Amino acid sequence: IDISIREKNIAFIGFMGAGKTTIGQLVAKKLYRDFIDIDQEIERIHQMPVSQIFEKLGEASFRKMERELIVSLCTGTRLKIISLGGGAYLQEEVKKACLSHCLVFFLDLSWESWKERIPLIIDSRPVLQNKSLDEIEELFMKRRDAYSINHSQFTTSEIDPETAADRIVESLK
Ligand code: S3P
Repeated sequence: IDISIREKNIAFIGFMGAGKTTIGQLVAKKLYRDFIDIDQEIERIHQMPVSQIFEKLGEASFRKMERELIVSLCTGTRLKIISLGGGAYLQEEVKKACLSHCLVFFLDLSWESWKERIPLIIDSRPVLQNKSLDEIEELFMKRRDAYSINHSQFTTSEIDPETAADRIVESLK
């Protein structure tokens, strides 16, 4: 494994339901690294599901929580694998911290494949509530542009998480 990987965290970014948590966890296991899913960590700290945080405290509070957590994890000494929530990387401070302290992997999938996952993910995602399919597609495309800059990109559409994780680990060698 290349020296750069020994010195850097790995961050997974991408749209909701792209497989960041599942694949991040598998990669962490394969590399014997600690794994942190940012949303799960926020839920643990605040003892509330993300949807409830949005509802009770508002999106701005959630964004502040995720930003502070990500920046502190990125700059910590222990090497780790982190999976970001889909909106986190759109915050400039988060992006900057990730690009300086992590190898950033964008887990991408096609709109067609993503659409099939909607029933599995919609209920727990406050940013998708009350949106038409067209509006969601627009968000998907806009976000995709924001994720695509400056890092490795992996398509997770047609492959199972285990294979995706193997390929990612392989790409680090
Ligand atoms: C969000 C994505 C979610 C979660 C929150 C907001 C977003 O994470 O952080 O609901 O703005 O895209 P996942 O990408 O893990 O679903």
